Amino acid sequence: MPAAGQVWDPRAYARNGRFVSELGAPVLDWLAPRAGERVLDLGCGDGALTEQIAAAGCSVVGGDASAEFVATARERGLDARLIDGQALGFSNEFDAVFSNAALHWMKRDPDAVLAGVARALKPGGRFVAEMGAAGNVASIRAAVYDALTRRGIDAVGADPWYFPTADEYRARLEAAGFTVARIESFSRPTPLPGEVAGWLRTFAQAFLQFVPENERAAVVSEVQEVLRPQLGVGGVWIADYVRLRFIANKTINKVSA
Ligand code: BEZ
Repeated sequence: MPAAGQVWDPRAYARNGRFVSELGAPVLDWLAPRAGERVLDLGCGDGALTEQIAAAGCSVVGGDASAEFVATARERGLDARLIDGQALGFSNEFDAVFSNAALHWMKRDPDAVLAGVARALKPGGRFVAEMGAAGNVASIRAAVYDALTRRGIDAVGADPWYFPTADEYRARLEAAGFTVARIESFSRPTPLPGEVAGWLRTFAQAFLQFVPENERAAVVSEVQEVLRPQLGVGGVWIADYVRLRFIANKTINKVSA
């Protein structure tokens, strides 16, 4: 199941979220897919990046918790499967697991995600991913928290996002049996295709579901006006993204002679 309350509409996503896959190009560079490799794209969304991995000559499986996204990815001719990233059922079959902008939605049990990725990889296989890091969309999150709290809604309980620090995630990767080759966290101010209202309607449904339906539009425009001086200067909206990007290899267990 996608994060509670989050429903992905592939057409709205193409309008408000296409930048997510477009900005995934550097993560693909880090993956450096090679023809003949078997790759899992974890949280493949509508399959835009999965398609690029397939075009590199890989045998790629796209996995996503949204049935709508899986259907859209299949329309591209991809092998896309409905999966729970926190209960992956693959075993020793992938040369690489790739993930862009998806791991932060798997908040319930990040260690189960990493255990499943480790199981899915062949020994020495690589896990290459980018996700939101600590501080990601901090001003948007704070404005949403304020708007909900003013209405007596538990914003912390509604929050679907997991944004770890690099140190925290490195420790989780190592505990799951990975050797971390590279891990970086960095700010990436992200121009939005429209106003932040569109972003909120696309990505903040887990919060908005707790707002009575007839008040949602007011909450969205209230949050937008709070954010305008910081993120919407001159009518150009730039979100305060912070990324965590890493390469980690499944440790090869040495058998003693
Ligand atoms: C992200 O890619 O960092 C992100 C996207 C939507 C909601 C929260 C975070």
